[in-house]
Amino acid sequence: MAPMIEVKNVSRRFGGFVAVNDCSLTVEKGSITGLIGPNGAGKSTLFNMVAGNLAPSSGTILLDGQPIGGLKPHELFARGLLRTFQIAHEFSRLTVLENLMMVPDGQPGENLLDAWFRGRKVREFEARVREKAEEVVDFLQIGHVKNELAGNLSGGQKKLVELGRTMMVDAKVVLLDEIAAGVNRTLLNDLAGNIERLNRERGYTFFVIEHDMDLIGRLCDPVIVMAAGSVMMTGTLADIQADQRVVDAYFGGSPTGHATNLPGATA
Ligand SMILES: Nc1ncnc2c1ncn2[C@@H]1O[C@H](COP(=O)(O)OP(=O)(O)O)[C@@H](O)[C@H]1O
Ligand SMILES: [Mg+2]
Repeated sequence: MAPMIEVKNVSRRFGGFVAVNDCSLTVEKGSITGLIGPNGAGKSTLFNMVAGNLAPSSGTILLDGQPIGGLKPHELFARGLLRTFQIAHEFSRLTVLENLMMVPDGQPGENLLDAWFRGRKVREFEARVREKAEEVVDFLQIGHVKNELAGNLSGGQKKLVELGRTMMVDAKVVLLDEIAAGVNRTLLNDLAGNIERLNRERGYTFFVIEHDMDLIGRLCDPVIVMAAGSVMMTGTLADIQADQRVVDAYFGGSPTGHATNLPGATA
């Protein structure tokens, strides 16, 4: 396998505080790679740098072999690196299909609305985008809610729509930051099944931050453990659960304390 994402000696400081500290890791093409670690470990900061939302203080990040330093999120989006976003407030009054149809069509600035104002070939363009959106709801098996307003969906259904938005363009790699939070078990199962199918059938690579160890165990290999801004270990979830350093990192030096997100606590 070749690397899809390579993070090389990346650091990020906030004032005098080092949130990500000389961090190096690889996400292989075709993998579903997990990223876990105690709160404050630097996981979201690392994701923000990979997604172009935050500049590294130092170090290099490569996407499919190309350096991505200085690229904006929409430029990375056009190169196939996507992260899911919560459905924005103003989209809650659009239907599921309409939400999918609003996703930019690969080129910066081009979306259904721009095409509408351009006034030419509007019908063909809309038909093409609508057809794609219908295909996405079929794949995700959410056809029964496609005409519902997004604001009326359950938390888990919203996550499926967020995942669906990544399918409107040709994604190579999708970043997921804590998608399981607040999602009921049934929908979590649907979500996990769809992630597996996108990986196996469409070749998506996933890079997943998650606290839910059941989900990590089902989906992710390898799993990367971050602590205090750096990678502590990489391995299968079983390797990680057997490692005393990881247990210590989660307990934060207090073996009698309760760590709800300890790997294995829910397994
Ligand atoms: N914009 C910011 N300004 C200052 N400190 C920040 C900022 N973003 C994150 N941090 C700090 O960096 C550390 C890592 O945060 P984060 O990346 O969110 O960790 P995680 O996602 O692993 O819980 C935390 O101590 C957090 O308070
Ligand atoms: Mg976080």
